[in-house]
Amino acid sequence: MANTAPRKATSAYTYVDHGFDVVIVGAGGAGLRATLGMAEQGLRTACITKVFPTRSHTVAAQGGIAASLSNMGPDSWQWHLYDTVKGSDWLGDVDAMEYMVQQAPAAVYELEHYGVPFSRTADGRIYQRPFGGHMTEFGDGPPVQRTCAAADRTGHAILHTLYGQSLKNSAQFFVEYFALDLIMAPDGSCTGVIAWNLDDGTIHRFSAKMVILATGGYGRAYFTATSAHTCTGDGNGMAARAGLPLQDMEFVQFHPTGIYGAGCLITEGARGEGGYLVNSEGERFMERYAPSAKDLASRDVVSRCMTIEVREGRGVGRNKDHIFLHLDHLDPAVLHERLPGISESAKIFAGVDVTREPIPVSPTVHYNMGGIPTNYWGEVLNPTASDPDAVSPGLMAVGEAGCASVHGANRLGSNSLIDLVVFGRAAAIRAGQVVDRNSAVPPIDGAAAERIMDRFDRLRHANGGSPTAVLREKMQRTMQEDAAVFRTQESLQSGCRRISAIWGELRDVKVFDRSMIWNSDLVETLELQNLMANALATVYSAAARKESRGAHAREDFSARDDRNWRKHTLARIEAEGEVALAYRPVHTETMLPHDRGGIDPAKIAPKARVY
Ligand code: FUM
Repeated sequence: MANTAPRKATSAYTYVDHGFDVVIVGAGGAGLRATLGMAEQGLRTACITKVFPTRSHTVAAQGGIAASLSNMGPDSWQWHLYDTVKGSDWLGDVDAMEYMVQQAPAAVYELEHYGVPFSRTADGRIYQRPFGGHMTEFGDGPPVQRTCAAADRTGHAILHTLYGQSLKNSAQFFVEYFALDLIMAPDGSCTGVIAWNLDDGTIHRFSAKMVILATGGYGRAYFTATSAHTCTGDGNGMAARAGLPLQDMEFVQFHPTGIYGAGCLITEGARGEGGYLVNSEGERFMERYAPSAKDLASRDVVSRCMTIEVREGRGVGRNKDHIFLHLDHLDPAVLHERLPGISESAKIFAGVDVTREPIPVSPTVHYNMGGIPTNYWGEVLNPTASDPDAVSPGLMAVGEAGCASVHGANRLGSNSLIDLVVFGRAAAIRAGQVVDRNSAVPPIDGAAAERIMDRFDRLRHANGGSPTAVLREKMQRTMQEDAAVFRTQESLQSGCRRISAIWGELRDVKVFDRSMIWNSDLVETLELQNLMANALATVYSAAARKESRGAHAREDFSARDDRNWRKHTLARIEAEGEVALAYRPVHTETMLPHDRGGIDPAKIAPKARVY
């Protein structure tokens, strides 16, 4: 920080030290499922969260959780795998995707037994609805009803249930604690994490045998997002500062139906229940682009089609810059029973009565396919030239913060909630195997802790000329303009230049509030630093990838190029904000052989992706 007021010595902070077998950072769906799994095994488990657990962003997940239960018609995990591989545009790791879809039914039944109040069929089974890109017969049949729903408040139901179960199993929660950084030992292993108790200003040093990052995505790097304001990629920022790479950050998902202007989510379940999109000519244009799946094509496809309609002058509204979503033909009883939440959101945020009028919608940033690279047990990878799958000891990442990679270049709707619970559960199983309950917790590395507090203290006293909110808005507008649904070399290079310049301006940040208790100015500044690491990795990774794949749609390289680009990007942020890029191979092999019930590898070989 170039400009700082006289600083308080870091040794003057009040420290509280803790030792746990495992510490989970984040209490969304993945964090809570990991917390519960760890606590159930008797591991001494702490969960640190910057918001009250049931306010984590999973609470906003609406449409449902994918699992091939076959409650509404024929389905199979092999069809689910095919759809997920195709949805990922052949960038996902096949072993991780196979693990997820195979484990999905058991993970959902486990949720049911924990108490999640799923919607029900007439005969009492879990209700499932169609969702984009989920089809029958390896993509050749009609849409499948695979997405298990609790009305349109599925994330809410899951989060409350997992929190209750975690408390029942004696997990210890540290609520409204902001995690500052990982404590990394000189040998590269993670030995704990330091967090700031926002409520009383104390600093907590957690020593742990395993730290699990479950901090969610970084949607708030963009100006308009369905993500909560708390989605600031904190775990990714911590991993980047620890010298670890971020993987496939160029793949940012735009959800087709954010409410125009407000950005709030209107679930894909609305189209699953029969809703459809129209342009200014009243045309159901998706029939033209995706004759088979239509409005239930994969999200990246629908978002691009909507953008093309607007660009070609067929948008609706005064500025012809958005699209209408019709639900007004649906039975009001269905809307009331299956879509009560979005009916309310449409009224509040768009002034629309969904039983009578269409909802104005536009593609809105929703999800980050990229994140901290992991294997399918959630163990963080720190690839080397000789070992692209090298594990970084003592550290795991799950949920949107992690990149296993089950979503590759594009995630299918409702594959996020299943990712959270399957990999939260997998991380707990793995920790149960590798954490030695009888060993002592690692001692606090004083020098590492001092470095963490030094960064915190510098930011706390930062006295430059640029308020945090000003820098944040510059970052958000840059990302929105230069790393959008469609990209070109020119837009991405502009993005690199502008984001690097803002990184430089962070040295001139101004924090107005120096206090330690509920200092939201400082929290937002710490979050901005985290967001900026994510933004840098995103634009540089995107500028380098010269092909179109999934959510990364290049107008100047419109085709997918498997020969040169079927590989994961790794972006490391260096001290001065340079981004060093490297690549690692995609896992293309299945685990279960075809002759033992596994999928025929020929079924998931790369081909043109049409819906
Ligand atoms: O549309 C939705 O309900 C979102 C679901 C998801 O992102 O998986």
